[in-house]
Amino acid sequence: MRKNVVAGNWKMNTTLEEGVELANQINSLLKGKTVNCDVVVCVPFTHLTSVNAVLESELVKLGAENCSEHEKGAYTGEVSAAMVKSTGATHVILGHSERRQYFGENNEQLLAKTKLALANGLTPIFCVGEVLEERENGTYNDVVKCQVEALFDLSAEDFGKIIIAYEPVWAIGTGKTATAEQAQDMHAHIRKVIEDKYGKEVAEDTSILYGGSCKPGNAPELFAKPDVDGGLIGGAALEAESFLGIIEAC
Ligand code: PGA
Repeated sequence: MRKNVVAGNWKMNTTLEEGVELANQINSLLKGKTVNCDVVVCVPFTHLTSVNAVLESELVKLGAENCSEHEKGAYTGEVSAAMVKSTGATHVILGHSERRQYFGENNEQLLAKTKLALANGLTPIFCVGEVLEERENGTYNDVVKCQVEALFDLSAEDFGKIIIAYEPVWAIGTGKTATAEQAQDMHAHIRKVIEDKYGKEVAEDTSILYGGSCKPGNAPELFAKPDVDGGLIGGAALEAESFLGIIEAC
């Protein structure tokens, strides 16, 4: 059975001190609570070790926001999957639309990153999603299918370890959420694309998260949809109470 997951994506926010404080607050708020999902916080590389020290891993898991497509060596400024793993992190966001858009990450690089993350025992949270123009011209299903197919070099066993996050780019940080119906339609489409390649069992077991202006107010309606298995949360994950509100919607 697939798991519900609520993952925070802090992006390039918080100093180290602020990040540790936020992690502490999230950890405290979750103490003694029974929640119906895995909780993950994905934080800047600089924060991983310190945040790991304050999280109780049975309450909150730790992730990075990216990793290199290279294993190691002369790549100044890059951070490898093995380095991320060595901090205590268990997850890594890959292919976020901001990485695709501002840093030109392509399908080939994202496959390499995904393979290295898996080889190092990290769970990739692999992001897909169309831009506004593609939503408006009706090509969004094909666009997202191509993004998912970028991973089809993986074995069924490896694909089964991945979490997919559907994040329509026009909904990220804009306050404009996809409707629960739009999210459900796309999640069902993604599951079908997975099923056609890897079979029903892998498709049914894959957690598919929604991301894009998800808030405590709209999370219950989104998460109630059968193919929406939680969320990848940006802005609302930077405030412990609102992040908790979304976790409780699961
Ligand atoms: P948002 O970001 O919740 O601020 O829209 C989501 C994301 O980019 O992961």
